[in-house]
Amino acid sequence: MTPLIDRMNRPLRDLRVSVTDRCNFRCPYCMPAEIYGERYQFLPKPELLAFEEITRLVGLFAQLGVNKVRLTGGEPLVRANLESLVGMLSQVDGVDDLTLTTNGYLLARQAQGLKDAGLGRITVSLDSMDDEVFAQMNGRGYGTDRVLRGIERANQVGLHPIKINCVVQRGVNDHTIVDLARYFRGTGHIIRYIEYMDVGNINGWDPNEVVTAAEIVDAINAEFPLEAVDANYRGEVAKRYRYQDGQGEIGIIASVSQPFCGDCTRARLSTDGKLFTCLFADQGKDLRAPLRAGATDQELLDLISGVWGARTDRYSEERSDLVAAGSPRRKIEMYQIGG
Ligand code: GTP
Ligand code: 5AD
Ligand code: SF4
Ligand code: SF4
Repeated sequence: MTPLIDRMNRPLRDLRVSVTDRCNFRCPYCMPAEIYGERYQFLPKPELLAFEEITRLVGLFAQLGVNKVRLTGGEPLVRANLESLVGMLSQVDGVDDLTLTTNGYLLARQAQGLKDAGLGRITVSLDSMDDEVFAQMNGRGYGTDRVLRGIERANQVGLHPIKINCVVQRGVNDHTIVDLARYFRGTGHIIRYIEYMDVGNINGWDPNEVVTAAEIVDAINAEFPLEAVDANYRGEVAKRYRYQDGQGEIGIIASVSQPFCGDCTRARLSTDGKLFTCLFADQGKDLRAPLRAGATDQELLDLISGVWGARTDRYSEERSDLVAAGSPRRKIEMYQIGG
């Protein structure tokens, strides 16, 4: 089969699968509690792709070049029996990197089961080590202790390398960046600082809240000298730096100040089975309806190839022009697509 590429010559390599739109946190930049209250209607169960449906689609994506699969949410660990999905996906030919992004709250008790089912590694979001700042950023008043226990447990059962994601928001947690670096230095875990992005439409994103990669590196470098390291692979999202004293490395995801669309090989499957070719897309292609209507593998392969072949997305590179032109665009929300 000829390799599948999009209109900008980018192959399809990664698939991010959202397994639920629910979450046990209410991070104000993603699911503000005022909007996502007790009565908010998340997707009813029949709307979600079933594990068998996800596994079939992942198998087809793998035939088209995907070798890396990341489970996301919402919060993936709130989906019941997630480890059985992991077990099914770990059997799919061609998938050699199977991982998951979680907020870590339910991780301590699930880590072993996930590992046993075949999960390779894990990424945990943690925006601050300061309990008060963290409590505000998770929107639930939770402290860091459970998340830290989850990370520890994941480490014990061998889900590494463990990555820690920290979204940096000016005036909210930027004063705690260095503390986070200090805590994880020397543990073997890799913190990645993420520039705050204008995902979705509800977080009221303001460019002034973005702390740039350069500012983040400067702050850490002033305390713990850093040096840049080459990427592990083409299209790696995080820029790597290592501590000059050998205490490990960090990553910076500069999607606002230094966009990386040119190498973007990621597709995303939403909870209800729509295929999105950009984190900032407005619409996805419904795969669930044809799947449930009895489409053959070949029909589904053709559908996916058609979408990828027509892909021209490069939102992060166009962002400044779009924002300057004041043309707000409708975008999918983070919790529907998992980052
Ligand atoms: P590794 O597989 O460990 O290299 O991780 P990754 O690069 O896939 O990173 P991860 O999935 O942890 O992504 C970290 C964060 O970077 C995401 O949660 C998003 O916030 C952001 N991010 C990831 N992919 C993209 C992308 O395609 N576009 C943009 N703009 N941001 C992205
Ligand atoms: N900008 C950057 N990162 C974000 N995340 C959620 N919303 C945003 C945003 N607006 C992060 C989460 C998590 C990952 C899935 O994406 O904190 O680490
Ligand atoms: Fe939940 Fe992650 Fe969104 Fe926070 S960013 S509300 S943890 S899905
Ligand atoms: Fe890929 Fe869209 Fe992110 Fe650019 S903005 S890197 S095209 S997901």
